[in-house]
Amino acid sequence: MYFHLVGYFNTSAPANQADADIAALIGEANETFLTKGAPAGKGAKILNFRIEDQKIHIEIESDRYVRAHDAILRFKKPLAALLGKKYRIGIRGIEIESFVVKFPSNDPVKSTKIPYVSNIEFDGQEITVEMEINESQIQNRIPDRIITLIEDKIAMQGYGGKEEHWNLLWESEQKQVLCTEDPTAELLKESWIKHGAARGQWIYGPEITRLFRAFESIVVKEVLEFLGYREMIFPKLVPWSVWERSGHAKGVYPEIYYVCPPKTRDPDFWEEVSDYYKVTHEVPLDLIEQKIDKPIGGLCYAQCPPFWHFLQGTTIADDTFPARVFDRSGTSHRYESGGIHGIERVDEFHRIEIVWMGTPEQVVEESERIQERYKYIFEEILELTWRKAWVTPWFMAQEGLTGTAGRKSVGTIDYESFMPYRDGWLEFQNVSVNGDKYPTGFGVKSQSGSELWSGCSGVGLERWASALLAQKGLDPDNWSPAFRRIVGELPRGFKFL
Ligand code: SER
Ligand code: ZN
Repeated sequence: MYFHLVGYFNTSAPANQADADIAALIGEANETFLTKGAPAGKGAKILNFRIEDQKIHIEIESDRYVRAHDAILRFKKPLAALLGKKYRIGIRGIEIESFVVKFPSNDPVKSTKIPYVSNIEFDGQEITVEMEINESQIQNRIPDRIITLIEDKIAMQGYGGKEEHWNLLWESEQKQVLCTEDPTAELLKESWIKHGAARGQWIYGPEITRLFRAFESIVVKEVLEFLGYREMIFPKLVPWSVWERSGHAKGVYPEIYYVCPPKTRDPDFWEEVSDYYKVTHEVPLDLIEQKIDKPIGGLCYAQCPPFWHFLQGTTIADDTFPARVFDRSGTSHRYESGGIHGIERVDEFHRIEIVWMGTPEQVVEESERIQERYKYIFEEILELTWRKAWVTPWFMAQEGLTGTAGRKSVGTIDYESFMPYRDGWLEFQNVSVNGDKYPTGFGVKSQSGSELWSGCSGVGLERWASALLAQKGLDPDNWSPAFRRIVGELPRGFKFL
């Protein structure tokens, strides 16, 4: 990696008489603090300097060890001390005239709009990045983040189009196939569901709603009450501050439903909108666009992130751990890819979100206990054909990353059910150990100061229904006796003529 920087220090007066002292300081700097911490022969080097009016120009080159932009900051303090003490000259700030970074790469980067980057070139072996930056961007580590961003982008391009990480962990016995139809088609035929008026949204009739409630009651009894979970209500509108801390701000943009508040709730301000509608019977979208503010965030997406605001910046008593909570208070929303996915992939869905936290050992153990309970449900109550796989952690996938978390115990297990009608598998829930990501992101500490971890598990009701109905069909006679007992008699639905 090669860095080249040309810039100058603004001084309160011309520093010509300090010329020899500055030369000596540069000589010393090149031997000492610009190479400190770097392997022998590495680090930064001030190549030359030139005093011109109230400016001290310098040119620095470096490798990755003491990066040129860090070197100019490191040089500022001793230079200021020298000029201040002996010459009564102050430094007013640093300006960067040119800043270029080069690093080896086998591929170009497919990006044109990276902030502070004025030009990127690729010669087949090396990427050259020109940046337009000033002192405060250096202080805020912008150049380093740009380099990491470009490196990450190139790495991602390498994975491009490949399957995300997937490793089979466990597979159930194959249960008897009792249905080979697409469950959504069957549900529509029987009027158990209808399309909602919005994209990727369904209206669930009485019969399937009973099914959803039966699933919930199973999870409540066999997982949540069994393991001692307490119900909470998590917010369903998620502001940017939460997604900044959860990492979603790095990549969730194509998939969220944005939420915009009105610019004001003054009825006079909105009157022309109402009037337009009353006269034309058309909602004036362009006019509304002018009267709403920028999005303050989006609708609930991953469900657990907004819970963490409850704990943000707190220290939690040790006897709270392991802490176990869940939320089932509302819908989650994702702007899914178009096409026909039925109730298997929807823009609006219903999920029980289970969250636990404690020491790393407690969190991993809890994940294992939860997995035991799920196994009991899928084997003994629902009698499904299902499997578990170790996949890219949900919190990485939602940031746009692939691969796995660095640590062995941290990550996501996807549960998949066999879908006979399409001879494929459907992810119908997950269990994750999220490591210290959330406690760290939201500044949550434990009383003892020992490491705090968390885990979460999402139970998607649409997905559970898809799994069960795809394998067993809509006729309750094909469902297991245990499940039939829990569902009871299905309520009467609607008949359409
Ligand atoms: N929060 C996790 C996810 O979004 C579990 O629901 O996958
Ligand atoms: Zn979660």
